[in-house]
Amino acid sequence: MLKIGMIGAGFVAGFHERALCSVRGAELAGVCAPEGAEALAKRAREDGLGDTQVYENIAEMCEAVDVVCIFAPNPFHVEIMRHIAKAVEGGAKLKGIICEKPLARNLQEADIMARMAKALRVPTAYFENQLHMPSVVQARNQLSAVEKSMGAVHLARSAEEHGGPHEPWFWDPTRQGGGVCCDMGCHSIAVGMYMLTPSGRTPDYLTPVSVTANMALLKWGKQPWIDRLKERGVDYTVAPAEDYSNVTFEFKDPETGVCSVAQATNSWMYDAPGLRLLMEAFGPGYSYTVNSLESPAGLFISDAAATAVADSELALEKAQATRGALVLQPNEADLYGYIAEWRDALSAFEQGKSGLLNFQYGRKITMLVMAAYMAHEKKTTLDLTNSAVLQALEDYVPMIQQGKGAKILLGA
Ligand SMILES: NC(=O)c1ccc[n+]([C@@H]2O[C@H](COP(=O)([O-])OP(=O)(O)OC[C@H]3O[C@@H](n4cnc5c(N)ncnc54)[C@H](O)[C@@H]3O)[C@@H](O)[C@H]2O)c1
Repeated sequence: MLKIGMIGAGFVAGFHERALCSVRGAELAGVCAPEGAEALAKRAREDGLGDTQVYENIAEMCEAVDVVCIFAPNPFHVEIMRHIAKAVEGGAKLKGIICEKPLARNLQEADIMARMAKALRVPTAYFENQLHMPSVVQARNQLSAVEKSMGAVHLARSAEEHGGPHEPWFWDPTRQGGGVCCDMGCHSIAVGMYMLTPSGRTPDYLTPVSVTANMALLKWGKQPWIDRLKERGVDYTVAPAEDYSNVTFEFKDPETGVCSVAQATNSWMYDAPGLRLLMEAFGPGYSYTVNSLESPAGLFISDAAATAVADSELALEKAQATRGALVLQPNEADLYGYIAEWRDALSAFEQGKSGLLNFQYGRKITMLVMAAYMAHEKKTTLDLTNSAVLQALEDYVPMIQQGKGAKILLGA
C-alpha cells in the first residue's frame, strides 16, 4: 500500500482524490496546502482512502508518505520541489515524486525540476493525463497491427478548449507562464506528438523539426469580458495573455526519416457545453477520432426547474449552463485518463522506476511550448534542428510570460 501525500488541495487535487477511489494499493495519507486541505482530507476519509491527515509543512508530510505530488499553482512548482529535495536530503524515503502539468513555466525552471529529481535519484511521474486517456490508448492498441503494415500516423490534430480557467492565477501570464498555450497547449502538443509516435516507441521518440504558431487575444480583451477579468484582479489592458493558440509542429522519425505533422489548437473561448477534448489521427488508410463531449448520457433541465441545480460542474468539467440539454459524463476521472496515469505511476514506483512520462519528458514538453511562443513572437517558422535556436530556447522567457504581451496581442 503506497501512502500518497498531495501538496495543493484545489481543483486538480480534488479530481485526483476522485481518481484514487478507483486505484488499488494506494492510500491518500496526507494533504498540505494553504487552502482546502481540511475539506479534501475529510472527503478522502469519507471515501475510504485512508486516515488522511493534514500537514502544516511539506517536510513533515514527506516523512510520512511514500509518494509526494505537486498539485499547486505553476509559480510554486520549483519552490515546492526544493522543499521536497530538502526533505529527501534530510532522510525522507520517497518512492516517487509526481508533478502536474506544466512541469514549469519555462526551460530554466523545467531544468531545475528535472535536475533536482535526477540528483535525488527518486523516480518521477509527469502527470499529463491525455496520453493515458483510455480512448486514445485503446485506439492506438486496436490500430497497432494496421499501423505496422500501413505505416505510422502522419497527421494528428488535438484540441482542448473551454470557456476559461476557474482561478485568477491561471489568467495572469506572469504567474501561470502565459495564456492558453502554456495552460492547455502543453496537453495538446504532448498528445499530438504521442498520436504520431509509432507504437512500441517511447513518448519522446520523435525528433521535433519545426514549429509555426498563431496566438491571439480574441475574446477576453473585449468588453464586457475585460471588465469581468478586472473584477477578478487580472488586467488584460496591461498584461494580456492569449486566449487562442494554434500551433503546428513537424516531427521526424529518427530511424526512418519519415515526417509527420501535429496541429494543436487551444482556446479559452469555447462557449459551448463545457470542456472539450478533440483528437483526430490520420494514418495511411486508417484514422481515429476522440470527442470527449460525446456521451451516452445527457440531462435536460427546464427554465422552471433550473434553480434546483446544485452544481453544474458535477455533470461536466467547466460546464457553462445549468438548464436546457446538458452533457453528462459519469466518470470524468476515467475519461480524461486520471485513473490510468495513477495506475501507471504507482506500479512504476513500486518497481523503483519512473512512470511512462518522467520529469525529463515534462522538460521536453516545456521546450516545445517555449518554441511555440518564440515562433509566434518572431512571426516565423522556427527550425528546431538548428542548435542556435535550441540554445536560444534554454533561457527564453516569452514576452507574454514577462507581462509584456500588450505589444504582441493588443498591438500597443
Ligand atoms: N491535468 C489537468 O488537466 C489539470 C487541470 C487543472 C490544473 N492542473 C494543474 O494542477 C496544478 C494546480 O492547479 P489547480 O487547478 O488545482 O489550482 P487551484 O488554484 O484550484 O488550487 C491550488 C491549490 O494549491 C494550494 N497552494 C497555493 N500555493 C501553494 C504553495 N505555495 N504550496 C502548496 N500549496 C499551495 C492552494 O491553497 C490550493 O489548495 C497546476 O499546475 C495546474 O496547471 C492540471
